[in-house]
Amino acid sequence: MIICANFKANKTRQETQAYMAVVESFVGANDISDTIMVFPPFTALEHLSRNVLIGVQNAYPAKNGAYTGEIALEQLEEFGIKTILIGHSERRHILGETQEVIAEKFRFFSTHGFAIVYCVGEPLEVRQAGTEALMNYIEAQCIGIDLEYKDLILAYEPVWAIGTGLTPSMEDIRELHTALRAKTTAPILYGGSVKVDNAAQIMAIENVDGILVGSAALSANDFCTMIADASQLNTKTGE
Ligand code: 13P
Repeated sequence: MIICANFKANKTRQETQAYMAVVESFVGANDISDTIMVFPPFTALEHLSRNVLIGVQNAYPAKNGAYTGEIALEQLEEFGIKTILIGHSERRHILGETQEVIAEKFRFFSTHGFAIVYCVGEPLEVRQAGTEALMNYIEAQCIGIDLEYKDLILAYEPVWAIGTGLTPSMEDIRELHTALRAKTTAPILYGGSVKVDNAAQIMAIENVDGILVGSAALSANDFCTMIADASQLNTKTGE
């Protein structure tokens, strides 16, 4: 299982340090073999060896240069960062990233060997338009993306489920993940209103290889509970 926390624009550097201390010691003490990733804000990046992978929520696809307000490869290298989120719906819809820009980021960071958590997911009106519309929408979000990239992790995050407390039915998640499984051998995460109460149930669904958690992962203790849920599932399935 792969269990990820996306902080978005939450937590200070100091709060992130306190959070990481809790999660690191939990992962170490419980001999967790799952992959744990945390995506803090840029200001909280540090260069430490960890048993939890630190990634960035975004970066500009260049080594460095005149890109006001962005950070690029050179700044990530300083902190040994080799993991990035690309295609998150908040960057698509709030920051206006087009599929072309997203595909360029994917090309650049895959060329530089990054582990890429690549997000896809539909707005509510597309979900309501039916399965064909939904699959066409997700297909369009995969244009320019190498779905067989060796360090790809795909994340399905329905836009209408993010931060709303709403989730698709377990059957809908299963169907969508099964459809994605036909497109890639990469691990497939589910994201969108994952909470302590539903994490285990979601991770138990066929073709769900982990979770990408926003608000519920802001509590280090809750995030650790979800990590424990994942390791329980491994014990059951003998992974
Ligand atoms: P929430 O867990 O707050 O719904 O956010 C999900 C998300 O966007 C993770 O990337």
